[in-house]
Amino acid sequence: MNEKRVQWLMPEYRVTVLPGDGTGKEVIREARKVMDVFEDLSPLSFKITEIPCGGEYYLETGLEWPEGSFEHCRDNSDAILLGAIGWPDAKLPNGDNAGGQCILGLRSGLDLYANVRPVKLYEGVQHKVHGMFTDIWEPELVDMVLVRENTEGLYHSLLRRSAQAAKGGEKDEPIVIEKFPGLDGEVEWDPRPISRNGSERVIRFSYDLAKKREARTGVAQKITCVDKSNVSRGCRLFRKVFREISNEYPSIETSEAFIDAFTMWLVRDPEDLDVVVLPNMFGDIATDLASVLQGGMGMAASANIGDNHMLFEPVHGSSPKYAGKDKVNPIAAISSVQLMLDHLGSRHDDVVATTCADILETAVSQHFSEGGDVTYDLGGEATTTEVGDAIASRCANLLREQFS
Ligand code: IPM
Ligand code: MN
Repeated sequence: MNEKRVQWLMPEYRVTVLPGDGTGKEVIREARKVMDVFEDLSPLSFKITEIPCGGEYYLETGLEWPEGSFEHCRDNSDAILLGAIGWPDAKLPNGDNAGGQCILGLRSGLDLYANVRPVKLYEGVQHKVHGMFTDIWEPELVDMVLVRENTEGLYHSLLRRSAQAAKGGEKDEPIVIEKFPGLDGEVEWDPRPISRNGSERVIRFSYDLAKKREARTGVAQKITCVDKSNVSRGCRLFRKVFREISNEYPSIETSEAFIDAFTMWLVRDPEDLDVVVLPNMFGDIATDLASVLQGGMGMAASANIGDNHMLFEPVHGSSPKYAGKDKVNPIAAISSVQLMLDHLGSRHDDVVATTCADILETAVSQHFSEGGDVTYDLGGEATTTEVGDAIASRCANLLREQFS
């Protein structure tokens, strides 16, 4: 173990880095640059293993990642940091996108049931909603976190296929339905199971998160359940479980919304939202929409959390058309490192990691409020590298104040 960690009696964190495809590799380079600064100037230490993976890797090698990668993520990683997965024309023989093992296989195979997606507008960032009322927008109006169920729902079949492939490919029992009454001809279908256990754990996670946010900020948090329980049975169960669990947290205000109306409220009254819990596919869609409130996908970071494992990733994809151009915004990846430090801190009761998470948050927030250079998506001309350098150097200054 690294000497400085022994001195602090803290573990060295094993971080597995999966850069993945396209611009995923570029933003991960910047995220690692920031991690290096924390290693150099704080008591934190990382043991990093980088594993190539994704659609591009599949086109080169016929594999989505090297053999043993899933086991490495499962058995030898305190945290996983992922760039982006997906590359045009990289398809498996069964038609699924190549690289699915490395993202969906991990979400399902490591039981990462809560996909936590904070949506916060930093002062100085241009948000993307334009119109006659934009002058009343204040950054503090947008500060919420969407918690997306991450292991079932409409993703259920693909998640299982990906996890089974990642674990070495034992066969799943397909659900066979001979005939869909009322439908003729060719039919493809995606079952959308929602279970009591799956709902319960992600909803409980969301309540606990609301409690933590309350303790941290001193601001009372409301929790909103978003579903389509007027139409779907799975959602009816989801909402029933939400109501049951709400009885255990009488001090937390709750509200409920159908996903269609929610999309309107999200954009119209974001200040009403604190913690929002949604089934898988609704969470996928709503988080892309919500990102416009924080400056776009280049700003959206996420944490995939389970009871025994955690994975962090920018919400955006691999943007093939910008790949190799040093153009895309690395903040979502850098803020994913912030989430990683924060979660390592709370999981391991490590004040140093929590302090480092706060320092990284301060560095990002000061970068914007002080008019630091930004990439094209935020109206600037800076490169990916330049933004990464700027955040790394702000972190270095803050770390020298804190730890020397
Ligand atoms: C996301 C992405 C993934 C998803 C894709 C890449 C499979 O869109 O993380 O939101 O649909 O979950
Ligand atoms: Mn998505």
